[in-house]
Amino acid sequence: MSKVDVLLGLQWGDEGKGKIVDVLTPDYDVIARFQGGPNAGHTLEFNGIKHVLHIIPSGIFHKQKINVIGNGVLIEPAIFYEEVQALRQKNVEPTENLYVSKKAHLILPSHRLLDAANEQAKGNAKIGSTLKGIGPAYTDKIARTGIRVGDILEFDFREKYQLLKFQHLQLAKTLNFDIDSFRINDMTLDAYEELWMQSLDTLRKFKLINSEYFINRCLREGKKVLAEGAQGSMLDIDFGSYPFVTSSSTITAGVCSGLGVAPSSIGKVMGITKAYCTRVGAGPFPTELFDETGRTLCELGHEYGATTGRSRRCGWIDIPALRYACMLNGVTDLIVTKADVMNDFEEVKMCTDYIIDGKETDEIPFEFNEVEIKPKLKVFLGWKSTLVNAQKFEDLPKQLVEYLSSVEQMTGVRIMALSISPDRKDVLFR
Ligand code: GDP
Ligand code: IMO
Ligand code: MG
Repeated sequence: MSKVDVLLGLQWGDEGKGKIVDVLTPDYDVIARFQGGPNAGHTLEFNGIKHVLHIIPSGIFHKQKINVIGNGVLIEPAIFYEEVQALRQKNVEPTENLYVSKKAHLILPSHRLLDAANEQAKGNAKIGSTLKGIGPAYTDKIARTGIRVGDILEFDFREKYQLLKFQHLQLAKTLNFDIDSFRINDMTLDAYEELWMQSLDTLRKFKLINSEYFINRCLREGKKVLAEGAQGSMLDIDFGSYPFVTSSSTITAGVCSGLGVAPSSIGKVMGITKAYCTRVGAGPFPTELFDETGRTLCELGHEYGATTGRSRRCGWIDIPALRYACMLNGVTDLIVTKADVMNDFEEVKMCTDYIIDGKETDEIPFEFNEVEIKPKLKVFLGWKSTLVNAQKFEDLPKQLVEYLSSVEQMTGVRIMALSISPDRKDVLFR
């Protein structure tokens, strides 16, 4: 019986999960997404071409590997259709090696409308949602009113759809939302709904399965399964900076419920962190830089959202948050990305503790959103050199090694790999 290895983000998302999953895929038989939906944007680069995936797992470019969209994931059929089309344009035919859980929930156009209505109603307190309908669709799942992928095969699907849509429109009205002016990709709700309905035909052509049986069978047969996370631990519904979070369990625990595997079936937990820190949307970010350095990180790191194009907020690496994420996930191996972005920095800083009301702590406070947090910063000399010629860890400049050793020491987890460019070929394993 083999175990499910896990790869997930330890910060506020966009750590480079897509790239690393693609790099690790040759070592696995099955790649399975366990939560989130099209709020995710996972970027892969190889042969000079960039690919962005939202719902489809990042192992899809490896034809002989099975990719699974697990029950914990949300599927927006029109976005799924577009993603499939984009793959086909690149001569990748996903119907063969992509399986979809019948228990995955659907995002309806009216979930997206409700997402916008909720954000509008929040005013200044808005979360900065990607507006893909994530919150409302998971709300329906938990309220036991959602519609699942398997339902699109049933005769009463349209009826279920209309009923749920009606409830959504009622709710949007109570929020004083202007439904007539609402647009998705410049389309009215009705026009988008038509496209959405047509997209179901594409979804129906995939292998719609009970993915929990499939994955457990794979484990019994000794196959290697990699679970791919979306978002990051600090966006987790329970442990993130609530309410500035997403609506799913982004941590290792989410693998069990999002794929139907037992806790005892979890193997390695690989946690990804950038060598610095970013966040998109609203919410606390203790190490955020509002100065030239922050802007430099954003520019050199191309920190613009892969899903919404918004510029990401940037700051120094946050050890209290990283340690928290290692604890929640049981991280066994760390992967660090984007150290190359700081190649020209004179100095690099690391937040080792938070200072709250003059007191030092390394614990994320319950009042994370309200209290003023001053980061206690440790300064490292920059490495001031390119990393392009590095083939292995031993080739790295000593200042970078010192910085990475400090990350290991403070988290208590060994770094297994370092990514030094967006490209598939640039990962140094230890
Ligand atoms: P994900 O959501 O965790 O998959 O990450 P995103 O794809 O949203 O954002 C990561 C961005 O950084 C993408 O544009 C990647 O191409 C890029 N990237 C990943 N690893 C590295 C790296 O080591 N160095 C640099 N410079 N860019 C990287
Ligand atoms: P990947 O998988 C970064 C953020 C949004 C917003 C909050 C809630 O690419 O790392 P939602 O649409 O879920 O209601 O948004 O979470 N967010 C992400 N930030 N990367 C992501 O995914 C994100 N998915 C959601 O910006 O602040
Ligand atoms: Mg992303």
